[in-house]
Amino acid sequence: MDNRTTTSHDRDLAQRHAEGWTFLVEALRDLPTTGAVAPSGRALARLLTDPVRHRPARPLNVLEAGAGTGSVTRSLIPLLSPGSRLDVVEANPRFASRLRHLVRTHPALATRGDQVCVHHTLVEHLDVDRSYDVIVSGLPFTNFTPAQVETIMSRYLELLHPGGTLTYFAYRGTRYARALAAPTEARRHRAVEELLAHYHRRYATGCWSVWGNLPPARVWQLRRPETKRHVAAGTLR
Ligand SMILES: C[S@@+](CC[C@H](N)C(=O)[O-])C[C@H]1O[C@@H](n2cnc3c(N)ncnc32)[C@H](O)[C@@H]1O
Repeated sequence: MDNRTTTSHDRDLAQRHAEGWTFLVEALRDLPTTGAVAPSGRALARLLTDPVRHRPARPLNVLEAGAGTGSVTRSLIPLLSPGSRLDVVEANPRFASRLRHLVRTHPALATRGDQVCVHHTLVEHLDVDRSYDVIVSGLPFTNFTPAQVETIMSRYLELLHPGGTLTYFAYRGTRYARALAAPTEARRHRAVEELLAHYHRRYATGCWSVWGNLPPARVWQLRRPETKRHVAAGTLR
C-alpha cells in the first residue's frame, strides 16, 4: 500500500468515525425523527442508489429525502452525469449544515457544485417546480403516523416523472420491537406497514434485504406508472 492510499483510507475511516458520532448525538436528541443510531452502511447506500446507476447516461433529476450525515449522498454524487441535478432535503439543521459542507468540499463537485442543492426543510414542504427521475428516501416511515406517511408517499408520486423510480428502506424486525412497546405504538406501526403494503401492491418493482447493514434493512423499489399520454407523445425519458 503506498502512502497516498494509506492517507485516503485513513481520512475515510476518520470521516466515518466522526459521522457515526454526529449521528448518535442527533439520535439521542430526537430518535423518532432521526430514525436510526448510525448512518446507512455502503451496501445499503449502493442498493438505494442503484436506479441512478442503471439509468442511461443522460441528465437526470434526482431527489434525496432525509440525507442525515450524507452516507447515501456520497454514493449519489459520483453517479451524476453532466447536466444532472441532485436536490438533497434534510429536516435537521445540523445535518443540513454538514451536507452543505460535503457539497462545498466534495472533489467531484469542485467545478460543478451547482448540480447539488441542499434544502433544509421537511420533504413534505419542499417547494420545487421540477419532477424527478429518481427519488431516494431515507425517512424513518415506521416512526411516523399513517397520515404523515400518506402525505409523503403521495408527494413522492407527485414529484416523480412518469416511469420514475422511488427507493426507500426500513429496518427489519421493528414490528417485533414495537409489539413489546405500548399497544398504541404497536397499532400505529401496524397501520403504517399496512399503508406501505398498499403502495407496494400497486407500485413495487423490487424488494431486497441487506443483512450486513447495522441494523439489517429491507430496500423497496417502486415505480410510478407511465401514462398513455406520455408513451404516445414519446415524452417518457
Ligand atoms: C434514518 S435517517 C437516514 C439518514 C441517511 N439517509 C442514511 O441512510 O444514513 C433519517 C433522516 O431523515 C431526516 N428526516 C426525518 N423526517 C424528515 C422529513 N419529514 N423531511 C426531511 N428529512 C427528514 C432525519 O433528520 C434523518 O436525518
